[in-house]
Amino acid sequence: MTPQKIVVLATGGTLAGTSATAGDNVGYSAAQLGIAEILGRIPQLKDTPLVSEQVAQVDSKDMTWAIWSTLAQRCSHWLSQPDVAGVVITHGTDTLEETAFFLHCVLAASKPVVLTCAMRPATSLAADGPQNIVDAIAVANTPGARGVVAVCAGTIHGAVDVTKQHTYRLDAFSSGDAGPIGVVQEGVVRASRAWPQSASNAALAFAKVVAAPTDGWPLVEIVMSHAGASGTVVDALLAQRVSGIVVAATGNGTIHHDLEAALLRAQAAGVRIVRSTRVACGRVIPHPGDLFPDSGGLSPVKARIAMLLDLLA
Ligand code: SIN
Repeated sequence: MTPQKIVVLATGGTLAGTSATAGDNVGYSAAQLGIAEILGRIPQLKDTPLVSEQVAQVDSKDMTWAIWSTLAQRCSHWLSQPDVAGVVITHGTDTLEETAFFLHCVLAASKPVVLTCAMRPATSLAADGPQNIVDAIAVANTPGARGVVAVCAGTIHGAVDVTKQHTYRLDAFSSGDAGPIGVVQEGVVRASRAWPQSASNAALAFAKVVAAPTDGWPLVEIVMSHAGASGTVVDALLAQRVSGIVVAATGNGTIHHDLEAALLRAQAAGVRIVRSTRVACGRVIPHPGDLFPDSGGLSPVKARIAMLLDLLA
């Protein structure tokens, strides 16, 4: 039987980055090398049936709706091919969790979609990208694996739980209280909990994304509560006809009273408000009498994506 192929969709990031001096792990430019060159440098992949596409070439801090829309459509196309076992997406670490969550929301994925990345550029003395790609391909090739996951430093994280937790360490991601899905060790995938199920309304969300003009997405912003916060940003957003605001609140969803007053004015004007927390671990636990709904455990950046997809006509 012909082995099934893996499709690698590239978007750039540090994994494709280069620095002027070998070993400079900080002063580099992300998104420089094409995916064909990156894969061609990994001898372990020479017998793996691969197809690759350069979907974008960006530092992931500059991720756009247009790229997300294209990426979702390329994933959908390849996942529907019977000879494709799974899709690997190379991505920068900085917004990897956002792209992973977005794809989780819009893909009814019965096969694995595996995002991977690097903390060091390709020119590093000890680049981590090649091993992460090899591990991601092992996950994409695993019978029974499914849904959108991220693989970094030998750990498999689910799209809903994964967050970047460190600015420098190779093992930069965490799944918080949920814990990782599993690990990859020398090509062997060991899953210790169930693979993610797609979001129940993924097909509808996908149709909305495909139909939406990429410059016509609702304006949804994140506002942080902090010592000395005011309502200035909220009032400015109201003037821009903001559709929704996610509050990165303090602690268990508490909000500075001046900011809260402005958010109540915005809510009365029809703006959707959701409370998440700026705390890295844990979730906002709701309480009767709360003035604003909570994000259901989603971080501020993921709550923003959920709201955007909800507001998309
Ligand atoms: C990026 O997110 O594209 C740059 C940083 C990284 O990949 O670690």
